[in-house]
Amino acid sequence: FSSRLVLGIETSCDDTGAAVLDETGAILGESLHCQTLVHLRTGGIIPMVAQQLHREHIERVVQEALDRSGVLPSQLSAVATTVKPGLGLSLGIGLEFSQKFVRTHNKPFIPIHHMEAHALTVRMLQPVAFPFLVLLISGGHSLLAVARGVDDFLLLGHSLDEAPGDSLDKVARRLSLVKHPLCSTLSGGRAIELLAKDGDRARFPFRTPMGQMYDCCFSFAGLRNNITMTIKKQEAEEGIEQGTLLSCVNDIAAATQHSVAAHLAKRTHRAILFCKENGLLPSHSPTLVLSGGVASNQYIRKAISIITEATGLQLLCPPAKFCTDNGVMIAWNGVERLREGKGILTPDVDVSYEPK
Ligand code: KG4
Ligand code: ZN
Repeated sequence: FSSRLVLGIETSCDDTGAAVLDETGAILGESLHCQTLVHLRTGGIIPMVAQQLHREHIERVVQEALDRSGVLPSQLSAVATTVKPGLGLSLGIGLEFSQKFVRTHNKPFIPIHHMEAHALTVRMLQPVAFPFLVLLISGGHSLLAVARGVDDFLLLGHSLDEAPGDSLDKVARRLSLVKHPLCSTLSGGRAIELLAKDGDRARFPFRTPMGQMYDCCFSFAGLRNNITMTIKKQEAEEGIEQGTLLSCVNDIAAATQHSVAAHLAKRTHRAILFCKENGLLPSHSPTLVLSGGVASNQYIRKAISIITEATGLQLLCPPAKFCTDNGVMIAWNGVERLREGKGILTPDVDVSYEPK
């Protein structure tokens, strides 16, 4: 291997991921173990269950990524691992494994911020110069930030309560979509996207949150509560048990997806105007990067694209596989840091994880 090689390890939530990348961003080997099906059955992520599954799979996942790449631990230039933010119990498994690994093989260690990794993944796929605007939407986070450098982010807005993916998952659970014949293996967000295709969103006109707030923050809990109340009312009208609504699930899914999309689009519009007023983006081909698990939703992508087209921004959205959690994005962040010599630790340094 002529270029430097980085092993990336991700365990911040419910995916155990590992990947080996070279300095150009070529993926030499990767492996991913997703816990989605387990958490669908228990009706949400139970942190101790997630931790146990990471513990059971981490060694195999890392070994698989190495084997597929044909790279030996001794040939690595560094190991990069997510240390924040995420579930403490989950982060701990990846970190503990990594610290042991770098000490055994005497390799530099690069602690990674999960959201920064999401934001920078696009640069692995195509040349995107700093600064650019980024909208990250997942099960744990929603934020708008200007990426100004590998370790320099200006936060413009974040969710004041829950993340959009979390809201979608909760609505899906309230509708018991895991029992729906078409949705039994799908995450809440995917299930809602699928059902929304045959739904009439106009039947339930939910109000977009925070219309009077002139900032770039998000709020989804109130909207989710409205949706839940509507489901309850509908069940009562039909005199049926909780979670057995069938008559209008498609319409509720469509209205839910639409109102989440509208809220995201309006806040993004505000952020773009703010960036323009303050000269935060280059005048030549300013860019919005859209990523995170919820960004794989085609309806939401379309809503955001309407905003970027109207404001003259280029919209970049990595393929779904790179929008959700994986080891590749962590390894890539390691590559970017290695290139700039930023945040690289010797193996003996004790690192702790930070859930927030
Ligand atoms: O980024 P991610 O894999 O994990 C983190 O939360 O960090 O995102 C997972 C979230 C879940 O809430 C899931 O319901 C949502 O992304 N999601 C979607 C879609 N696919 C996954 N939401 C809307 N539409 C989708 N197609
Ligand atoms: Zn994520």
